[in-house]
Amino acid sequence: VMAQNRVTIKADESKIVINRHIYGHFAEHLGRCIYDGFYVGEGNAKIPNKNGVRLDIVAALKKMKIPNLRWPGGCFADTYHWKDGIGPKAQRPKMVNTWWGGVTEDNSFGTHDFLNMCELLGTEPYLAGNVGSGTVQELSEWVQYVNFPKNSPMSNLRQKNGRPEAWNVRYWGVGNEAWGCGGNMTPDYYANIYRQYATFMNPAVGKERIFRIASGANSSDFNWTETLMKNIPLNLMEGVALHHYSVHSWEDGKKGSATDFTEAEYVKTMKQALKMDEFIEKHAAIMDKYDPQKKIALVVDEWGGWYNVEPGTNPGFLFQQNTMRDAVLAGATLNIFHKHAERVRMANLAQVVNVLQAVILTEGTKIVLTPTYHVLEMYNVHQDATLLPIDISTSDYTFEKEKLPAVSASASRDKAGKTHVSLVNIHAGQPQTVTVNLKGMKASGVTGRILASSKVQDHNTFDNANKVKPVAFSDAKLSGDELTVILPPASVVVLELQ
Ligand code: AHR
Repeated sequence: VMAQNRVTIKADESKIVINRHIYGHFAEHLGRCIYDGFYVGEGNAKIPNKNGVRLDIVAALKKMKIPNLRWPGGCFADTYHWKDGIGPKAQRPKMVNTWWGGVTEDNSFGTHDFLNMCELLGTEPYLAGNVGSGTVQELSEWVQYVNFPKNSPMSNLRQKNGRPEAWNVRYWGVGNEAWGCGGNMTPDYYANIYRQYATFMNPAVGKERIFRIASGANSSDFNWTETLMKNIPLNLMEGVALHHYSVHSWEDGKKGSATDFTEAEYVKTMKQALKMDEFIEKHAAIMDKYDPQKKIALVVDEWGGWYNVEPGTNPGFLFQQNTMRDAVLAGATLNIFHKHAERVRMANLAQVVNVLQAVILTEGTKIVLTPTYHVLEMYNVHQDATLLPIDISTSDYTFEKEKLPAVSASASRDKAGKTHVSLVNIHAGQPQTVTVNLKGMKASGVTGRILASSKVQDHNTFDNANKVKPVAFSDAKLSGDELTVILPPASVVVLELQ
């Protein structure tokens, strides 16, 4: 028997827009994300590039509709001194990348390189400022350097370095993981430091006000969020962050293989991923106490699956493969973000190229779009669309002692009036039937795309880059205002109603 699941779309209760910025990404100076990833050097004759930035990556990310990109870290951000990354490249000082492999960072990819790359990508930059080992002056000058349109020492320096107009960067992180690599601070201490830094990041220095994001909690550290919300005046902060990785263990070598995993490990990963729902709910409830009008955004600026590195690669480079497990994880997480769209207005998958749950992997001239890429591309119809709230009753996915919901779903209506429904079958071993009640909504037809593969371990490699890719989906039948959908095991489907 096929497991039964029911979804009811409450189109009449729609009022919240799914901010496209929850589809954001993250690029750190870590392993091969920037160097030998995005950036292959201006003189590279083998790989087509513009100012050293790979054009095949740019084209793929534009097609996926990347809305924003966070840079330069992560942990790296709190070691980074932006003035070392401007001016003639040959004269830039070098530094040690202490967090990621102890490699020498030559600062050849800096502020201009990143912000010009964002223009090429048509994406909004999100700059993460150095609080852990920087100064208030350094961060306030960075804001002036990139955003001040008139005459000033910093804007003149920008001009001298080849950029007359300001970039108008809206999103600014005030430190990263201040409870850990960002300085091992207590929440009370960080809240005070935040107030000081944010005061001198004049939000009105540029054409548009900046959006300051406080370094947020890790997973279930609710006390962190409570302390920040209690102690930081609402007019000093526009967003508060949250990081949550789907990881088996933080101990080295105990995260499991990215490709060679058992069903028990799959279930363990998904259980961690689905905790996002509960964590957001609890952090948001704390925010509601201090900010009932929901002025402050919850920014999930690091999320994704984290496994052991690929055998033979540098353990400090966090290079991992990406399978259908990651596709299911991404689809289910994005459905969770949609559900909480009123408070979660930005998020960043870690990380975009060659690091952790990447959407793109590269090797020499070759490029691979991962199953996660395809989910983000399929789901981009939800960007800036109006959320249609749902009720869902799903069957259980039981495995040994664990119990997970078998199906995850969400729906939205775009500006052209088209309704899209995203469905994920989390169950790795069983197909699911989903009955979707449209509650009187008029629809004359349904089309869709599916991402699935025979095994949940399946992935794309440099030799077989299209093993996992979306194809047309024909297992959705419309009858009156009811859809009947059959989802194969571990699959992600996006439907469009006509
Ligand atoms: O994404 C990798 C690292 O994970 C980031 O640098 C840090 O913020 C987090 O601990």
